[in-house]
Amino acid sequence: MIQFNDVSKVYNGSVKAVDNVSFNVEDGEFVILVGPSGCGKTTLLRMVNQLEEITEGEIILNNQSVKELNKIEMRRKIGYVIQSNGLFPNMTIEKNVMIVPDLLGWDRKKRQDRFNHLMELIGLHPDEFRKRYPHELSGGQQQRIGVARALAADPPVMLMDEPFGALDPIIRNRLQEEFLQIQKEVKKTILFVSHDIDEAVKMGDKIALLRDGEIMQYNRPEEILNHPKNEFVSKFVGQDRVLKSTSLYSVKDLDNEVGLSPYDKSAHIKAVQEDTSLRIILSMLLNQEADQLVIEDGNGNRKGSLTLEHVEKFLQAKVGENADGVALQHE
Ligand SMILES: Nc1ncnc2c1ncn2[C@@H]1O[C@H](COP(=O)(O)OP(=O)(O)OP(=O)(O)O)[C@@H](O)[C@H]1O
Ligand SMILES: [Mg+2]
Repeated sequence: MIQFNDVSKVYNGSVKAVDNVSFNVEDGEFVILVGPSGCGKTTLLRMVNQLEEITEGEIILNNQSVKELNKIEMRRKIGYVIQSNGLFPNMTIEKNVMIVPDLLGWDRKKRQDRFNHLMELIGLHPDEFRKRYPHELSGGQQQRIGVARALAADPPVMLMDEPFGALDPIIRNRLQEEFLQIQKEVKKTILFVSHDIDEAVKMGDKIALLRDGEIMQYNRPEEILNHPKNEFVSKFVGQDRVLKSTSLYSVKDLDNEVGLSPYDKSAHIKAVQEDTSLRIILSMLLNQEADQLVIEDGNGNRKGSLTLEHVEKFLQAKVGENADGVALQHE
């Protein structure tokens, strides 16, 4: 677990980059730091691995103040992906990825196996890339190498500073999916910086939204979207926050909350699986692919039907008093 206890950072005695921040990141939790440029995200990460000194307060990593960790322990425990991928241009890809294992003195066999494994994990062929230099890779490939490098010594904690920042939306999306897949396998404690709320909603177990060095809200994505704590949060997540929240729920969630309706057995109605995201359901209904959908469980048993009204009722229930109009139907 990482604990931030009243942490502040003042640069040059005057610039308050981080202002009295307190929150906890549980083991295996994926936490996203979001907020406008200059709000202190990078500074917060860099205090965890002692690249910046903490001005006030404490950061505790598994019951030990990070100030007490020495450099070797630090490298074992904390992987770091910096904002620009930070690969060394004059080192091969293999050397770049294996910097920390090399420092830790791993033997040849263990190194080889680890390199091959990591490259497979990030979807690049080990032999094809081993001897290349960073400039011989595309931007997206370089960012993946940055991620592999941070994972190399299998640290329990990862700090990732906009690792997918400079990518076009398609590659970015693919890397996000890949990384979520990787995280399912490796289950690390992750602090991940982004300035993209959609990325945060998609990837994070929790989101910490920062402004001017202060935490505005720290909670699960659905809480941030459905119950923004103040106007800044509400503006930051956007007018369409209620629609965004549909990607967090499936038909099953809807069934549990508001129930499905009986369906007309004789009519020909389009069927969808109950694990389908409400976002997809919504777009099917709004694009008038169907007025009504029949819901099937994993075994193909029909459980009931839903229409746009069900989705409205569900969202209303989720956002409660905060609903600034959950009107989905257009005339
Ligand atoms: N080394 C430094 N010396 C002085 N001020 C700094 C230093 N590094 C950062 N700052 C200031 O601290 C504040 C927070 O910067 P930080 O880099 O943490 O923001 P950020 O949220 O990561 O921004 P971005 O989204 O643009 O990367 C900014 O006002 C920045 O100008
Ligand atoms: Mg930054």
